[in-house]
Amino acid sequence: MDKIRLVGWVRTRRDSKDFSFIELNDGSSLRNLQVIAKSDTLQNYADIQRLSTGASIVVTGAPHLRPRSNLFGCVFRVRSRLAFAVHQFFQDRGFIYVHTPIITGSDCEGAGELFRVSTIDVKNPPTKNGDVDYAQDFFARQTYLTVSGQLEAEAFACALTKVYTFGPTFRAENSNTSRHASEFWMIEPEMAFCDLTGNMDLAEEFVKYLIADAKEHCQEEMELFGKFVDKELLPRLDLVLHRPFQRITYSHAVELLKKSGEKFEFPIDYGLDLQSEHERWLTEKHFKCPVTVFNFPKEIKPFYMRSNDDGKTVAAMDLLVPGIGEIVGGSQREERLQMLEDNMRRHNMDPADYKWYLDLRRYGTVPHSGFGLGFERMLMFITGIPNIRDVIPFARTPGSAEF
Ligand code: 4AD
Ligand code: MG
Repeated sequence: MDKIRLVGWVRTRRDSKDFSFIELNDGSSLRNLQVIAKSDTLQNYADIQRLSTGASIVVTGAPHLRPRSNLFGCVFRVRSRLAFAVHQFFQDRGFIYVHTPIITGSDCEGAGELFRVSTIDVKNPPTKNGDVDYAQDFFARQTYLTVSGQLEAEAFACALTKVYTFGPTFRAENSNTSRHASEFWMIEPEMAFCDLTGNMDLAEEFVKYLIADAKEHCQEEMELFGKFVDKELLPRLDLVLHRPFQRITYSHAVELLKKSGEKFEFPIDYGLDLQSEHERWLTEKHFKCPVTVFNFPKEIKPFYMRSNDDGKTVAAMDLLVPGIGEIVGGSQREERLQMLEDNMRRHNMDPADYKWYLDLRRYGTVPHSGFGLGFERMLMFITGIPNIRDVIPFARTPGSAEF
C-alpha cells in the first residue's frame, strides 16, 4: 500500500514493549485512527513516548490492518450478507446454482483480456514451426482463467431452464480506474424461454432486492456509510428502490448525449461505445435514476448476442447506476444456428472451436437470455465506497497483487 500522511491530535497513547499505540483524531470524524509507532524503525521513538493527550503530530506510514478498522468491518459484513442474499434471491425463484469452471478454453467476451493458464517452462517452451506448441501444455491446448461463466451457464439453462453462477472472474485489461479489478466476482443468471424484456425485468428486480436486503439486515452499517462515506447515499438508495428504472435504446441515448451540450472527454456518436462519463451523465444528470440502455449496434458487442430484425442492432442491455455507470451487462442470446455461426466468423472465431456451444442450437434450441452483475460494483453502489479496491478483501489490479 502507498505511504500516506496524517495530521491530528493524540487522544490516547499506550506503550508496549517494542511499540506504542497512538489513537489519532483530526476532527473529520468521531472515529480515531490507530497508529502503531515501532521503536526499532523510528529514530525519534523517545519523543513519541512523551506524547500526551492533545499533542499535535504528523505521521507518515501505511496503516494496513484494514479488516480491523470499523469502516472495513462494515464493508465486509455487508459483503457477506449480500453474498447470502444473492443465493436467496435466486433459490427463492427456482434457479439452480451451477459451478462453472474457472479454467476454460474459450474467450466468452471476445475481448482477448485473458490470463493464460499454463505449466510450460517459459525459459524453454516446446515449439512447432517457430511458435510455442500448446499441444504439449498441461491441458494439451491453450487455456485461460475465465472472464465469464456465461457460455457454460447457457449449456445448463438449455437443460434446467433457470440457472445462475456466482464466482470469481478474471480480466487482464489494463484499466487503472476505480471500478476495474483484475479479479472480481460476478453473478450470472441464465434463463431459457426468456427474452430481453424478461431479462431487463429480472436485473431490475435483483438490484432492488439487494438494496432492500442491505437496508433490512445491515442497518448499523448502512447508517455508518450514510454518515461517514456519502451523505447522499441513503436518500439515493431509497429513490432507486421506489422508482421504476428508465429504459432507453442505445440510439436514443446517443441522441440525448449529443444534444446535451456537455463537454465530454471522449467523443459520442452512433456506433461508438458509451464511456463511463456518458453513462454517468445519463443516470446522474439527465434521468437521475438507474437507466437500462438496450439494442446496441452489433459491431460493439460480442458474438453471442441475438441479432434484431433491423439487421443493425443486437438485443443487448446495460444497466447503469448513478456514481458508477454500468453494473449489469447482458443480452438475449443468438439461438439460431446459422446466424450464430455467421457472427462467429465475423468476429474471426472458428465455429469448430465452439462445437458444444453450437450443438445447443443444433438440437432443441430455445430463446434464452441472461446477464452478469459485478458483485463489487454493486457493493460500491450500496455502500457509497468510491474505490473497488476497498470492497474486495485482497484486491488484484494491474501492477498489484500484494498480500
Ligand atoms: O458486461 P460484462 O463484460 O458481461 C459479461 O461478462 C457477460 N458474459 C455477462 C452475461 O451476460 N452473463 O460484465 C458484466 C459485469 C459488468 O456490468 C460489471 O458490473 C462487471 O461485470 N465487470 C467488472 N467489475 C469489476 N472489474 C472489472 N474489470 C469488470 N468487468 C466487468
Ligand atoms: Mg459490459
